[in-house]
Amino acid sequence: MCEITAVVSGKGGSGKTMFASNLACVLAMEGKRVLLIDMNTGLRNLDICMGVENQVIFDLADVINGVCSISKALIPDRRFEALYLLSASQNYDKAKIRAAHMKKLCDMLTDRFDHIIIDTPGGLGDAWQAAVAPANRAVIVVTQEFSAVRCSDTVDMKLRENGITKRYAVVNKVKSEYSISGYFPSLPEISESLRIQLAGIIQDDINIHIAMNNGVPVVCKADSYICKNFEKICARIFD
Ligand SMILES: Nc1ncnc2c1ncn2[C@@H]1O[C@H](COP(=O)(O)OP(=O)(O)OP(=O)(O)O)[C@@H](O)[C@H]1O
Ligand SMILES: [Mg+2]
Repeated sequence: MCEITAVVSGKGGSGKTMFASNLACVLAMEGKRVLLIDMNTGLRNLDICMGVENQVIFDLADVINGVCSISKALIPDRRFEALYLLSASQNYDKAKIRAAHMKKLCDMLTDRFDHIIIDTPGGLGDAWQAAVAPANRAVIVVTQEFSAVRCSDTVDMKLRENGITKRYAVVNKVKSEYSISGYFPSLPEISESLRIQLAGIIQDDINIHIAMNNGVPVVCKADSYICKNFEKICARIFD
């Protein structure tokens, strides 16, 4: 069965794209057939993080508008044979993508992939609703800030309304000095307020930032502590 996972957050810039790209690579390393879908219409950046920005000829909007077949829009990853990206359109007006489009598209792809990972846009508007519509799982990426925790709780409620029962949280950009200062929510506090399983924490690490900027998801450096951490998070989400 194809697992369709939406990577979401309440607050922008929390690390959704970072998490989606690395999760997809970890699954691909495990031999899974993986499709990453960028739903950030007009603000796409997953292509840069995956290092395929020069290969985007057709995008999700072209598929929805019937300009090309799905296969033509799937961009193969250069590191993992069974990993593909379906890029968002950079043209905001090109397609109004609705929940029904996304459900139909994913239905047509479930035989070809073991996992579809959807990088969702910020906010809770129509684009977000369309992005989460086909998902049966969701990962909320939250940072160690009170505002982020409250936004995440609202997002969790929306996920529940959308019938997504398998919901996990990941705390990103964690700094040990934040945790001990008392000025920021502690990890147990975050876990308790979200009322869903905490699948792991990810340190604030310059290597993650550098990797994102250079088109090489950080987990591609196998055996690093970051890669091992991602493997464990992935196991908690899918096992
Ligand atoms: N654990 C981390 N350590 C260091 N930098 C990080 C980490 N996670 C993400 N970043 C950096 O934070 C910034 C925001 O990350 P990212 O683009 O993944 O967030 P986002 O939630 O997808 O944002 P948006 O809401 O704009 O789509 C990026 O510059 C990224 O490199
Ligand atoms: Mg993003």
